[in-house]
Amino acid sequence: MKRLSVAIDGPAGAGKSTVARQVAENLGLTYVDTGAMYRAVTWKALQKQADLHNEEEITRIAREADIRLTPGQNGMDVWVDGKKVTEDIRTPEVTSNVSAVAGMPGVRQALVEKQRQMAVAGGVVMDGRDIGTHVLPDAEVKVFLTASIEERAQRRFKEMKRKGYSVDLDQLREEIRRRDEMDSNREHSPLRAASDAVHVDTTNRSLEEVIQTILNLCRTKVGEA
Ligand code: DC
Repeated sequence: MKRLSVAIDGPAGAGKSTVARQVAENLGLTYVDTGAMYRAVTWKALQKQADLHNEEEITRIAREADIRLTPGQNGMDVWVDGKKVTEDIRTPEVTSNVSAVAGMPGVRQALVEKQRQMAVAGGVVMDGRDIGTHVLPDAEVKVFLTASIEERAQRRFKEMKRKGYSVDLDQLREEIRRRDEMDSNREHSPLRAASDAVHVDTTNRSLEEVIQTILNLCRTKVGEA
């Protein structure tokens, strides 16, 4: 029997990865962070000093990259061609270039194929921007997670500070706004809620509350089946 698939989409900093990881853990499902895959391609392209505007070149990199997600100490490790890049894909350099890479149709096609492969037997919680609308349109549970820009900027600020980066809150807010705009307005698979997604606003709500809301949605689905 095909196991449950859960799609969690939403803008940067809404809390998708933390929520998705914990929902997966709780239900014994596999967590797939698709943003990490776009970051992995961006990291590899920067590493190879590829031309980040050359779609053909970047698409080739995306097709050839052996990207693996494995359970790790802090949730999940990311590997590219056998090298662990869990930390390397979160640098400001990767973050500021990833939207451009994720906007390339060739790159998206290559990664969507890999993502569908990972979900072929179900049993996944997948987070991203286009999971409910495009990657897994038949997912049993679809969630669109949001939070105000202010709250998302504050969360990123704390996260970056914890990692030792010196960051400016105003700049971070502006970057989030710009990334939202690019992700929402791009031509191919823009960030959009699926018509059958449940909207969950995480502003002023605890992580625990949000996780419970999603677990309840999943339990209801399993109960219906
Ligand atoms: O969630 P994140 O910040 O790690 O995502 C990195 C970038 O990848 C972000 O700019 C949006 C893009 N992305 C996408 O276009 N489609 C996805 N399914 C996941 C991420």
